[in-house]
Amino acid sequence: MSLLEIKNLTLDFTVTGARLRAVDDLSLSIEAGETLCLVGESGCGKSTAALAIAKLVPAPPARYSGGQILVNGRDVLQMANGDLRRLRGRMVSYVFQEPGASLNPVVRVGKQIKEALKLHRPEAATEDEVARLLKLVGIPAPEARARDYPHQLSGGMQQRVMLAMALAPQPQLLVADEPTTALDVTIQAQILELLRELKQRLGMSILLITHNLGVVGEIADRVAVMYAGQIVEVAPARELLQRPLHPYTKALMGSVPALGSEAPRLSTIPGNVPRLGNCPFGCRFQPRCSVARPDCATLVPSLAELEPGRLVRCPFGVGVSPAPFSATSASIPAETARIDPGAAPSNEPA
Ligand SMILES: Nc1ncnc2c1ncn2[C@@H]1O[C@H](COP(=O)(O)OP(=O)(O)OP(=O)(O)O)[C@@H](O)[C@H]1O
Ligand code: SF4
Ligand SMILES: [Mg+2]
Repeated sequence: MSLLEIKNLTLDFTVTGARLRAVDDLSLSIEAGETLCLVGESGCGKSTAALAIAKLVPAPPARYSGGQILVNGRDVLQMANGDLRRLRGRMVSYVFQEPGASLNPVVRVGKQIKEALKLHRPEAATEDEVARLLKLVGIPAPEARARDYPHQLSGGMQQRVMLAMALAPQPQLLVADEPTTALDVTIQAQILELLRELKQRLGMSILLITHNLGVVGEIADRVAVMYAGQIVEVAPARELLQRPLHPYTKALMGSVPALGSEAPRLSTIPGNVPRLGNCPFGCRFQPRCSVARPDCATLVPSLAELEPGRLVRCPFGVGVSPAPFSATSASIPAETARIDPGAAPSNEPA
């Protein structure tokens, strides 16, 4: 059994009477001890999907419209409030992008960590445990630092404090949403190294959300790529970086600057991620896809296993010769070519 298994999760926001689908039929699993990176452009639904794991997207305006989120086999969407409180922290813990915005500026950091301990592990809410946690995340002189207020610490140290708070309940899954984006590159590298070390030492799983494919290469076991509310590719990290299959992943990787490259311009993906409620019918990437064909605008590709362990939402992902969207195509596996011509656009009005 996987530690986390999300099955066909669908989540809508109701905005001025219209129901907008932010997460569409998302399926994903994370094994014990695994690091999975979730990547994709701004607004594609990464944070919403991650917050949904502990049912933290407030409803309303959200509506969990379908699917299951199984943590150790139990469906989070069916849990009573008491069970949800126990899940948050003890099983699934979060670290966000801006430590400055998450820490209380008028409370000493040691006290803030102690509060997290009181909530989730009251028997361990001691000065010694606070110092141990600060030491665990690489903060020197932890007893002295515990008496500091957040503004007395650098951004990197504040992020380490946030990590200590997230680790206080001893979670099985740490969800880190862009934890290094607000930091300079040297500190980013230190925090990534720390995450890698902590995973080894504590045996926990990590879901790391990032825009940065360089981060993926540093830390991920597997990668899931999101586009416009849908997963478009899932693969082992090394394989995805060496040989992306989905045209969107290929385009993302093509837009990463390479040291020593002599290309006069950095390549970019034309256009933008479609706004919620304004997704094109057929393949959502079709208006921006350099290898789109007429069928792509009318038929809906499903996420299918093109190769063992490699899921792709494009029947042309392996670069086979042009083939129609058809379950009977000889050039692509039937599973790959599965389409749903009758599927409704997923941003239908409420
Ligand atoms: N509370 C909300 N009410 C209405 N729409 C929302 C709400 N929260 C998020 N959205 C919308 O859901 C979509 C997905 O947002 P989300 O924050 O998950 O994207 P993201 O991939 O994390 O982006 P970023 O990389 O910028 O953090 C966006 O279109 C966003 O505007
Ligand atoms: S289904 Fe068509 S438009 Fe979508 S990614 Fe594949 S080739 Fe491009
Ligand atoms: Mg986000």
